[in-house]
Amino acid sequence: MCGIMAYVGEQECAEILLEGLQKLEYRGYDSAGVAIWDGQRIELRRCEGKLVNLRRSVAAEPILGSLGIGHTRWATHGRPSEQNAHPHTWGGISLVHNGIIENYVALKQELSARGHDFSSETDTEIAAHLIGASVQSGHDLHTAVRLATKRMEGSYALVVISEDEPDRIVAARQQSPLVVAIGNGETFAASDIPAILAHTRDVIFLEDGETAVLTAQSVQLFDADGLAFERPTKHVLWDPISAEKQGFKHFMLKEIFEQPDKLVDTLRGRISLDRGDIALDGAEPPKAILDALKRVVLVACGTSYHAALVGKTLIEQLARIPVEVDLASEFRYRDPLIGAGDLFVPISQSGETADTLAALKMAHSRGAHVLAVCNVVDSSIPRISDGTLYTHAGPEIGVASTKAFTTQLASMMLLAVYLGRRKGTLDPARARMLLEDLRTIPTQIEKLLEASDAVREIAKHFIHARSFLYLGRGVNYPIALEGALKLKEISYIHAEGYAAGEMKHGPIALIDENMPVVVIAPKSETYEKVFSNLEEVRARGGKVLAVATEGDLKIARFADHVMTIPAAPDYLQPLLTIIPLQLLAYHIADMKGTDIDQPRNLAKSVTVE
Ligand code: M6R
Repeated sequence: MCGIMAYVGEQECAEILLEGLQKLEYRGYDSAGVAIWDGQRIELRRCEGKLVNLRRSVAAEPILGSLGIGHTRWATHGRPSEQNAHPHTWGGISLVHNGIIENYVALKQELSARGHDFSSETDTEIAAHLIGASVQSGHDLHTAVRLATKRMEGSYALVVISEDEPDRIVAARQQSPLVVAIGNGETFAASDIPAILAHTRDVIFLEDGETAVLTAQSVQLFDADGLAFERPTKHVLWDPISAEKQGFKHFMLKEIFEQPDKLVDTLRGRISLDRGDIALDGAEPPKAILDALKRVVLVACGTSYHAALVGKTLIEQLARIPVEVDLASEFRYRDPLIGAGDLFVPISQSGETADTLAALKMAHSRGAHVLAVCNVVDSSIPRISDGTLYTHAGPEIGVASTKAFTTQLASMMLLAVYLGRRKGTLDPARARMLLEDLRTIPTQIEKLLEASDAVREIAKHFIHARSFLYLGRGVNYPIALEGALKLKEISYIHAEGYAAGEMKHGPIALIDENMPVVVIAPKSETYEKVFSNLEEVRARGGKVLAVATEGDLKIARFADHVMTIPAAPDYLQPLLTIIPLQLLAYHIADMKGTDIDQPRNLAKSVTVE
């Protein structure tokens, strides 16, 4: 996720901007830049890579001035490069942007027709042209920002300065966090609290649709209709470390709670309810490839492999295409049958996992078309794939994947519907119904997260357990695997995920009163069958923790603890059933006092075999 820092006051601002951006470094970024009014014009400095590059450039050729904006960019549209780095400038204005402008292609075409040339691959540059053109046509900066944002669909935190009004900063927010802060004869805007804590603790959080005009002496707020209003400042007491985690105790917990927003980002701009169809942002395979498509091969590691397992069921059910799933480390060494007619889909949060990368290279060299599902823009996997469906989870800092997983699940659903429509197995009406259901998921997850404290109460009973069994069927079998993986990696408690039907073929021997068994049993086609597993566990004295559908009274009679999810169609259940399991693993680990964000022996990105 990108970082924003802006300053207007009496002090030289280059160092203030750089320091503020440095405080946001933990969020991850791939390029950085500043734009500062030097008394004559806005001077721009941008660098690919770490902030240290920008620092060196500013140290070598200082930019003097006390009005400026700065940005660290996490690429979403266009690769990490100096040209794609923010700020973007046009027509005497300069701006930084967090978020995604969904309709940027249409706006770019319109601006191109009016003679605008673009120097980057970003959606953000469109905003610079819209606002710059509006200022050139005679509007003041605040009006120009308001008019431009009315044309933009999607999400934005925008911070803009203009050579015509070099005493002010204009800020605007829509679905992307933005805070303004008031110091002594100076004001700030930032995407996140840590950036400004060294200067002031008096802040105002902007809400969706609001804009603000900042000068050294004042902050004026405007609602979505452009009417001025007042909001008292809040005095934040967070220490710098908890500010980085936005008040959450761990990054993992913060990332669990970010899932509703991140899923909205994954779906944004890709669903057309009118057509009952999906757009894959230009990653769509050519028609000839789709016409010849015989098989989909999903390959990944760890959590991403579990998303692939869910993807298999979704694609086979909705698109009726045979799907193979493999662990990348196995695929690459088994001389796999792969080639023309296969759609090879590597799934990876980091885009750098060595085994997945090697499997991709092998599939590519044998003639398969490669459509990657990845979180990190322009990482190694997207760079050598034919197309990439980005998951838009933002940087994931906790080693244990949470939001990366659920955004992969949503991407699997998008891919399944896309292929179903191409293959004619889904008509627009059915696709529309599926997509409408999918769009309700972020709100349902928000409600599920409210039960975090209740899950913690359940977790208290299990901190001394030595071993857990997780059982699920159908699309919830991969969730049993993922739930077990979450628990073992952060709590160091042994946990195994099993297909519930396999229980009596071996693991039943382990069950006694010391073995908690997590049974994922929401109402579904296979509910009654999972239910019989549950009875078998109870009969052997095992402690049962059930993930069940709200209002299921029957299950409450057999389970020791129940974590509920709302009723949902089978194919969407994984997006819900995983939430209480993430929380369960988190709370058990937290009460055990383990290093949750950096568990022992684990790395976030496994770039070696
Ligand atoms: O970056 P990738 O998705 O390719 O990483 C694959 C696995 O290393 C990863 O999913 C790992 O299992 C998770 N961090 C575990 O939570």
